[in-house]
Amino acid sequence: MAPPLVTNESLMHLGDLWFPTLAEKAMGGVDLLYWGIFWVSVGLGAAIFGVAVYLGMKYRRGSAAARPESEHQGMAMEVAWTVIPLVLVLSVFVWSFLDHLRSVVPPADAYEVRVLGKKWFWQFEYPQAGVTAINDLVVPVNRNIKLNMSSEDVIHSFFLPNFRRKKDVLPNRTTSLWFHADREGKYQIFCAEYCGDGHSVMLGNLLVVSQEAFDQYLAKASATSDEPLPQLGKKLYQSKACFTCHTVDGSAGTGPSLLGLYGKKRRFADGSSLDADENYLRESLLVPAARVVQGFQPVMPTYQGLLKEREITAMIEYLKGLK
Ligand code: CUA
Repeated sequence: MAPPLVTNESLMHLGDLWFPTLAEKAMGGVDLLYWGIFWVSVGLGAAIFGVAVYLGMKYRRGSAAARPESEHQGMAMEVAWTVIPLVLVLSVFVWSFLDHLRSVVPPADAYEVRVLGKKWFWQFEYPQAGVTAINDLVVPVNRNIKLNMSSEDVIHSFFLPNFRRKKDVLPNRTTSLWFHADREGKYQIFCAEYCGDGHSVMLGNLLVVSQEAFDQYLAKASATSDEPLPQLGKKLYQSKACFTCHTVDGSAGTGPSLLGLYGKKRRFADGSSLDADENYLRESLLVPAARVVQGFQPVMPTYQGLLKEREITAMIEYLKGLK
């Protein structure tokens, strides 16, 4: 269980009307390119519109303007309207390709984190530390970070607006994305590929902290928690994103509510039923597809390997207390 982190307020809402705050100076070229294309388009648009209005007025019906008989078109004109757009398009290509190369080739010294996209949360794993976290990606400031990403189900897309980075996360394939945070803070992670009912809540936090805070985070997260079980379970309900699908107030979400679940009779899609005991709760966490509650879809991912034994017990104790 990861300890809560002290960080700045979310920086997502900062920035101007056009862009969220840039958290990686070196990616400023993306914004510049946008402005370049924008103003060239505005300039060309205004010029074409101006010429159209001018010619419309000059050659309006009944005007005394000279109208040459010849259908001859000037060679110079033809060259101009071929060469100018060609130069514009090629400059956009070269300019964006250089930025693209920089953003897709990760530096060799990057610190690597594994990312797993699931319906509907992000799982982060620090292979060297043996730490797994849900929805909170903690990284040190001023360090190159490389994410090796894959999906357990459908196509997701990992999007860091503050870093101008986005990459699809696919099943059966690893894609990677790297970034470098210039300043500490909390940034929003979005899923940018429609992936089902929970797509809009497939959110994560990127927490950029000092190297010391990062080391402490890993050290604490890999140590076993000694919190009271129901309290730990309540935290896990939040941190493992259970709330995405399961309410604790009795209303149904993507999955059944967890309120008053323990000890009650459960009816399943295959017609069978049983009283919800500890083993049923455990099975629901680890092999959710084994029994699907009537009226719901079998969409829950397994938490096998994501919860330590004590955390499973903590979830069960927490659920038992939801009366
Ligand atoms: Cu995952 Cu949208």
